[in-house]
Amino acid sequence: MMTGNEIRESYLKFFESKGHKILPSASLIPTNDPSILWTAAGMVPFKPFFTGAAKPDYTRVTTCQKCIRTPDIESVGRTARHHTFFEMLGNFSFGDYFKEKAIPWAWEYVTEHLKIPAEKLWVTIYLDDDEAFSIWNKVVGVPSERIVRMDKDTNFWEIGVGPCGPCSELYVDLGAERGCASPECGVGCDCDRYLEIWNLVFIQFFKDEEGNYSPLASKGIDTGFGLERVASVLQGVPSNFETDLLREIMDFTAGLFGLKYGADEKVDVALKVIADHCRAITFAITDGALPSNEGRGYVIRRLLRRAVRFGRLMGGEPGTCAQSYLD
Ligand code: GLY
Repeated sequence: MMTGNEIRESYLKFFESKGHKILPSASLIPTNDPSILWTAAGMVPFKPFFTGAAKPDYTRVTTCQKCIRTPDIESVGRTARHHTFFEMLGNFSFGDYFKEKAIPWAWEYVTEHLKIPAEKLWVTIYLDDDEAFSIWNKVVGVPSERIVRMDKDTNFWEIGVGPCGPCSELYVDLGAERGCASPECGVGCDCDRYLEIWNLVFIQFFKDEEGNYSPLASKGIDTGFGLERVASVLQGVPSNFETDLLREIMDFTAGLFGLKYGADEKVDVALKVIADHCRAITFAITDGALPSNEGRGYVIRRLLRRAVRFGRLMGGEPGTCAQSYLD
């Protein structure tokens, strides 16, 4: 069984072996990008390299990026896979390789290095992306019935103003027992059966402030590989929270309240929320964001309040966590 740390290391080393420079995570506070509050994806620090506004030192880069995303905040703790803070592994090409390498490398890494069985993998592509279809089908060998064409809502990736493009996602089928049993259940269903683990973005457009798209002078690759999700698959646990990346935080918090994870569903949700929000708050404050009444600071305040509220639901007195973490 691979630990979270081993998966992170193995991913970065794999892409190093394919000529990528391993770079450290950037700050959670984006630099010179008023279009977003947080670094919410691995490509955020590299926007100027995709557009040509700045020249990169390396045209192939790989990172493990700290990310904060808040739109799913109400789902945190209630699903197996939602977070406000998570780690996104990624490989990036700035005008270097494109789909012809990104797709076979993703397959090679997942099937040969992580040893996820090929027959459990599904792929999505953007509606008219016949080139991606052909690489998945003819070069990699994924059967055509496991390559699903999806629309702009799911298979076109953009974040704020800047580089963007159609994408292709890799899913793991976790088995019918994890599904919703609906006859319509399939890749893209909201239930827990098909888990998206990797998003390969084929960067080729620039989206401006008005929402217009124009072609970029050179194409690039941006990928997002969810560390916590992949850890849950490899460790055979039912949610990201039970991986070694988060479980210890939940067990520690449960201990503070004299409780145990797994005995009461309401308590479990609270432990998950607290584990998630504590990670987000800790990394955000470490990167220089402080609680306040607006913008990023308000997000931290909201996360703190939610964590405290869920602590009270478990019977905690004000200060329970703060005091124990300091002890
Ligand atoms: N930039 C790709 C992703 O966040 O999924």
